[in-house]
Amino acid sequence: MVCPREQQSDTAYGERMKTNTDKVSTIAGKAVDKNTVTIINNRTGESFDFPIMDGTEGPSLFNISTLYAKTGMFTYDPGFTSTGSCQSGITFIDGEKGILLHRGYPIEQLVNSSNYLDVCYLLLHGELPSKKEQLEFDTAITTHTMLHEQLTSFYRGFKRSAHPMAIMVGVVGALSAFYHSDTDIHDPIQRMVAAHRIIAKMPTIGAYAYKYSIGQPFMYPQNSLSYSENLLRMMFAVPTEEYKINAVSARAIDRILILHADHEQNASTSTVRLAGSSGANPFACVASGIASLWGPAHGGANEAVLKMLNEIGDKKQIPKFIARAKDKSDSFRLMGFGHRVYKNFDPRAKVMKDTCHEVLNELGISDPVLPIALELERIALEDEYFIERKLYPNVDFYSGIILRALGFPSPMFTVLFSIARTVGWIAHWKEMFGNEESQRIGRPRQLYVGTKQRNFKQIEQRKQKTPDWLRLWGNRRS
Ligand code: ACO
Repeated sequence: MVCPREQQSDTAYGERMKTNTDKVSTIAGKAVDKNTVTIINNRTGESFDFPIMDGTEGPSLFNISTLYAKTGMFTYDPGFTSTGSCQSGITFIDGEKGILLHRGYPIEQLVNSSNYLDVCYLLLHGELPSKKEQLEFDTAITTHTMLHEQLTSFYRGFKRSAHPMAIMVGVVGALSAFYHSDTDIHDPIQRMVAAHRIIAKMPTIGAYAYKYSIGQPFMYPQNSLSYSENLLRMMFAVPTEEYKINAVSARAIDRILILHADHEQNASTSTVRLAGSSGANPFACVASGIASLWGPAHGGANEAVLKMLNEIGDKKQIPKFIARAKDKSDSFRLMGFGHRVYKNFDPRAKVMKDTCHEVLNELGISDPVLPIALELERIALEDEYFIERKLYPNVDFYSGIILRALGFPSPMFTVLFSIARTVGWIAHWKEMFGNEESQRIGRPRQLYVGTKQRNFKQIEQRKQKTPDWLRLWGNRRS
């Protein structure tokens, strides 16, 4: 295939020499812009320059958006371990140092000095709110907490035993049907209203999923309560009795919400951005984020951690489970350990561990899985396998124990995560519209390894070979 090539040179690999000028380097006698990366095709000797982009923090990137036009090739990066997909000013993570900043503020400071709705405001608007802005924002969220009564009939379509994350995907997706014709995503005001609506309604949708599973009546939101208090009340109150908010529980929920509010381009946020890049309805985009979050490698880990700790059951069993986690022929992994970005302590995990101790002490709860979790963490952190691979506890290692102490059943853990992360998803979705490049429809490429072009075969000409799926199915049944 002949491809347009914007720039070519016959530079041989390894012949580079830097000059000491600021903007120009000399490579094999040729002056080149220092702020570029040169890629050489060793099959042909051709070289191509790509501009370097610097952010305010973190590693620089080089812009390969013209790569195909210049070289006729794509890059290959499964799991996007080295690929930046957008420019963002919302969250910064330094995984080597264990730093997490939202709009420049360290997560520890936000958890200790702020509240969830202020953090939502910060993520959406870039600054912490003034007193007036705080009041306006809190009122805007509070006045959107109710669901359209018709939406509640969607719950009845689910089995009572349905996983609440399945209900979340369905009901949040259904929300798009209620706000489709009046949501113009190209109008910044309407984008903001959509953001307020979804942040406000998520606790109601989540709490109703729980109420439905246990056959209790839905509790309407109460606008005099804070975001976290309201969530607790909708989850645990019944119409026949007065419900007293426990301040320790409300504070713990608020902390958990802050700690999960955003985490830059993770699987679910990238899913929301990708869905949004086609111009889809924002509520449908959030539903796609919920689906992506559900998996045990992402937001489903908190539920999986508790299941694992229960399965371990006794400190004496820990070595057996550590051995399984290290055994490559066993698919078992230590849930709540490891992270794509953090190669150091996840700063959220430290806060979560402290909160866990606080909550259990203050509520006077002794959970038998806590000593198992502490011992598992201690042993894993001293084990060569985990040290070598820089596997530390992540945010979800302790969150399940806290949520259990607060009365949440384990299938609801990921629901709480999805409520918290909604602001991150919608902040990224909103940010996308401020940047023309990010608005291009997301469309990754692939390396095709299938059959080359061939002619259609009539059924009589086809060879009789048992397909793989039928063979596997047969093995499973026998
Ligand atoms: N237990 C045992 N081994 C692990 C674990 C683990 N939890 N995590 C990673 N490893 C090992 C891998 O087997 C691999 O070993 P190898 O180099 O010998 O092949 C190495 O560490 C690197 O692992 P990758 O899978 O390449 O790491 P990646 O960055 O792709 O995955 C992930 C990160 C998915 C989080 C992984 O660590 C994991 O599965 N952890 C358990 C699930 C979990 O806790 N997820 C929550 C993440 S936080 C969040 O989403 C809120």
